[in-house]
Amino acid sequence: MSQTIRVAITGAAGQIGYALLFRIASGAMFGPATRVHLSLLELEAALPALEGVRMELEDCAFPLLDGVSMASDPMKAFEGADWALLVGSVPRKAGMERNDLLRINGGIFTAQGKALAAVAKKTCRVLVVGNPCNTNALIAMANAKGSLPKENFYAMTMLDQNRAIAQLARKAGVPVSQVGRVAIWGNHSSTQYPNFYDAQIGGKPLPEVIRDEAWLQGEFLATIQQRGAAIIKARGASSAASAANAVVDTVRGLTTPTPAGAWVSAAVCSDGSYGIPEGLMFGFPLTSDGKTHTIVKGLTPNEFSKGRIAATLKELVEERDAVKDLMP
Ligand code: NAD
Ligand code: LMR
Repeated sequence: MSQTIRVAITGAAGQIGYALLFRIASGAMFGPATRVHLSLLELEAALPALEGVRMELEDCAFPLLDGVSMASDPMKAFEGADWALLVGSVPRKAGMERNDLLRINGGIFTAQGKALAAVAKKTCRVLVVGNPCNTNALIAMANAKGSLPKENFYAMTMLDQNRAIAQLARKAGVPVSQVGRVAIWGNHSSTQYPNFYDAQIGGKPLPEVIRDEAWLQGEFLATIQQRGAAIIKARGASSAASAANAVVDTVRGLTTPTPAGAWVSAAVCSDGSYGIPEGLMFGFPLTSDGKTHTIVKGLTPNEFSKGRIAATLKELVEERDAVKDLMP
């Protein structure tokens, strides 16, 4: 038992927070040999509710949980953070698109980017979950410039990858463990592109196993793009347990070496790969050596994929242009 990782989590008294904190404290995120300190950030008004969550964490007697601290000031909550999981923000309601939240939530990420730059460890890695997560991550990254490296910022598309794997496994009639190399390109929005052409089932190219291109291009694609909205319609609230699970999968995927035949999906700062403008937070297939990520290179998107990637890129460029004033 060597180290303690300090994890800052914003919006910790919210739905995702309630499903996430206990998974982290149990060791699911950093493994059974790593202790964790949870540093929880909430709005002042939510601190009494958060105190109840803190009591519940204590009542679990998690052997790996070193401590829990609570604050309403990001300058306190992010102090010394190794990881910052930026969940806190307003979720959309039925009938809204995620980018309708741009002006509502964008401002949160300017202040939090600055606070991360000021007080987090210089090696801190940041995963933005609050929507619209790609552009919120862009805002946080821009406001932390000069202090935290841009490579340390991520926006969450792992939930979309998990959704895609589940639907493809169901269609092929195989366990989810048989589905590999699925990745989400672009925005965590209804323009995202869950690329199935490069996916594999049982090590074989997916299009050779699921011989139904009309389903892949039509129903499958629409199901993944609209899954968040379908859950809001059914539950009356946005996904929470599956989102928390995807946060665990993302951090685990970025802090452990990626197994052969697997990819990790997250939006990262583009290095110009595949013609995506440098500096945009864009979802790519990634691999990890356990310390840093690499964008999977050498793929050759077909015309259909190129069209879908262009559509999601257009939306991200529009989002970026709409929040220029929030980026120094
Ligand atoms: P929620 O409303 O249940 O909880 C959000 C919490 O954030 C609240 O407790 C609120 O008090 C807190 N909060 C608001 N502003 C804050 C601030 N400035 N600092 C600290 N805390 C703040 O919402 P939720 O269901 O937990 O969802 C949170 C966000 O995650 C939403 O934006 C939602 O759309 C997004 N989300 C993203 C994904 C994804 O895949 N990227 C998946 C699910 C949900
Ligand atoms: C999701 O994908 O479930 C979340 O981003 C919530 C939403 O607004 O769709």
